[in-house]
Amino acid sequence: MSYQTGIGQRTAVVTGAASPRGIGFATARRFAAEGWAVALLDIDGPGAEAAADKIAGEFKAPVLGLAADVTDQESLARCVEALAASELPPVGALANIAGVASPTPFLEVDLEEWNRVVGINLTGTFLACQAFLPQMIENGYGRIVNMSSVSAQQGGGVFSKTPYSAAKAGVLGLTRSLAREVAPHGITVNALSPGVVDTDIRAGATDEENEARLAAAVPMGRQGTPDDMAALVVFLSSEDSSYITGTTQNINGGSYIA
Ligand SMILES: NC(=O)c1ccc[n+]([C@@H]2O[C@H](COP(=O)([O-])OP(=O)(O)OC[C@H]3O[C@@H](n4cnc5c(N)ncnc54)[C@H](O)[C@@H]3O)[C@@H](O)[C@H]2O)c1
Repeated sequence: MSYQTGIGQRTAVVTGAASPRGIGFATARRFAAEGWAVALLDIDGPGAEAAADKIAGEFKAPVLGLAADVTDQESLARCVEALAASELPPVGALANIAGVASPTPFLEVDLEEWNRVVGINLTGTFLACQAFLPQMIENGYGRIVNMSSVSAQQGGGVFSKTPYSAAKAGVLGLTRSLAREVAPHGITVNALSPGVVDTDIRAGATDEENEARLAAAVPMGRQGTPDDMAALVVFLSSEDSSYITGTTQNINGGSYIA
C-alpha cells in the first residue's frame, strides 16, 4: 500500500473527529484527500470507527478510528501503542480538535463544570501534545495545530462563557510556549481561532433563530464551515508551512479583526 503524501509517508492524528458535522471529521477527511494516513480519535469510539470507515471508503486511504478520552493520559497512551502496532506510518501531524462548549453564566459555574471544560479543551490539548511529540522529534517532522476560539480573544461574546474563554486562552499560551520549545526540532505549533462555525457543538442549546443571528453578526454574513477550518489545519500541517509557528490564525469571516 502506498502512503505517499508529497511530504513523505506520515499519519495525521485528529482528536474529536467522530462528530459527522464537526470540524474534526472535516479535518480528518481533508487530510485523507491530500494523501495522509489518518487516525481519528474520539471519546465516542464507535463514532470514530464509523467516521474512519467512511473516509477509508471515500479515499482508499489508510485510516484508523480509535476510542480516546483526551483528558485521560492512559487512554492516549493506548492510542500511541495502537498506532505503533498498526500499518499506519509514523505520526507527522496532530490536530487537537476535541472540545466542548459551555454557555453557563459565571456565578452558576460549579467546580465540576469548570474542570470539565478546562479539562477537555486545555488539559486534553496538553496531554495529546505530550503523547505524540516524542515520535515527531524522533522522526524529524512535526506539525501541531490546536483549537482555540475567538472567545479567548474578545471575552466570550459568541455562545460559550468564562470557563471556555479561559480554557481557549490557555490553549493560546500553550501553543506559543510549546512552539518556542520545539522550534529547534523543526516542529511547528499553531492555533486556529475560529469565530462561529456551523457544527453541532451548540446542539440542544440553540435554535434556528439564534444560529441565524450568529451568522448575521459576521461581516461575511455567514457562519464558518468545518471545511473552512479543515483547509487551514491541513495547510498548517504541510511542508509549505514550515516557517509558521506560534501563531494564532484568526479565521472568523471578519468578526474579530486584530
Ligand atoms: N463550532 C464552533 O462555532 C467553534 C468555534 C470556535 C472553536 N471551536 C472549537 O473547535 C473544536 C471542534 O468543535 P466542533 O464545533 O467541531 O464540535 P463538535 O461537538 O461537533 O465536535 C467535538 C468532538 O469532540 C469530541 N470530544 C468531546 N470530549 C472529548 C474527549 N474528552 N476526548 C475526545 N474527544 C472528545 C466529541 O465527541 C465530538 O466528536 C472544539 O475545540 C471547539 O471548541 C468551535
